[in-house]
Amino acid sequence: MSELMRNPNVMRKAQAEVRENIKGKPNVTEDDLADLKYLRLVIKETLRLHPSVPLLLPRESTETSKVLGYDVPKGTTVFVNTWAICRDPKYWDAAEEFKPERFESGSVDFKGTNFEYTPFGAGRRICPGMLFAQPIMELALAALLYHFDRELPHGVKP
Ligand code: HEM
Repeated sequence: MSELMRNPNVMRKAQAEVRENIKGKPNVTEDDLADLKYLRLVIKETLRLHPSVPLLLPRESTETSKVLGYDVPKGTTVFVNTWAICRDPKYWDAAEEFKPERFESGSVDFKGTNFEYTPFGAGRRICPGMLFAQPIMELALAALLYHFDRELPHGVKP
């Protein structure tokens, strides 16, 4: 919601999509979610800039290896800084900007095969709640956008 307040064009676009699709119904339901394509991009972009588990869960290396010239002994506790990777300009254009459209082509997803974007982790310990979390986030955000208009307090600029 903070990012939407700071990016009024994104807010307008997401809200228009929700309101056009749900028009006339009292509430957003799970059946409506398939049509809310832009909303899904907004959530993906939110998880890129604000991953809920920024360092994922700790791992332990199972064998001695060399990574970027550093020796990593077997048994080392390793953290993956997904927060930093998700903002790395090597992988993202205008990395610090909130631009849901960057996911429009659908080629990058959070299912654990694009290592530049792992808000749910990857590999054997990937978040098993991912498919449960997705519709919950969509329902909550769609309902907020459907029922409420929000604006910044008087005099505050995005
Ligand atoms: C937006 C919502 C959520 C995000 C961003 C998220 C993210 C994550 C991340 C990053 C991990 C660590 C994965 C790794 O280190 O590779 C994880 C693990 C886990 N998540 Fe989620 N999660 C979410 C929602 C949920 C929900 C709704 C559930 C259960 C209903 C859930 C259950 C779990 C469990 C049980 C693990 C541990 C898996 C393991 O270590 O084998 N998560 N989650």
